Amino acid sequence: MFASLTPQVSKLLEDHGKSVEDRLQGVCDLLRAEVPHYHWVGFYFRNGDREELKLGPYSGAPTDHTTIPFGKGICGQVALSNKNFVVPDVSAQENYIACSLTVKAEIVVPLFVKGENIGQIDIDSNTPDPFGEEDERFLESINAKVAKILENQG
Ligand code: SME
Repeated sequence: MFASLTPQVSKLLEDHGKSVEDRLQGVCDLLRAEVPHYHWVGFYFRNGDREELKLGPYSGAPTDHTTIPFGKGICGQVALSNKNFVVPDVSAQENYIACSLTVKAEIVVPLFVKGENIGQIDIDSNTPDPFGEEDERFLESINAKVAKILENQG
């Protein structure tokens, strides 16, 4: 599944006729539509110089958590740790921000531009314990492609 999605992701991201925001939106929509265990897909980015994340393009139910302080929730922890965070069971996490009661699991993978953690891709799943190494490698590869675009921008 991921092998067949990878070229589609590249195609969306390389569409220079569209804004970066629209391209990321396309990736979120594609992933949510095509990966059965992805029920909410979004990008968070560091808010300028502030120690907080701001929600960027996403696909799925609207969330109240459009701003997340560093350290708070799974996303905020990844902003500080620079490491992937795979949560097989969100109910077992103390530092967790619930967006929807249907969510059972979450994966957050940081996005590095020139070695700096500038954001992340966040996936929620309504399926318990659905994420494996394949998901991590796939999401890392997407973030690497997004990083290249952002690098060339700034
Ligand atoms: N659950 C996340 C908050 C973001 S929502 O999943 C969209 C967290 O604990 O950081």
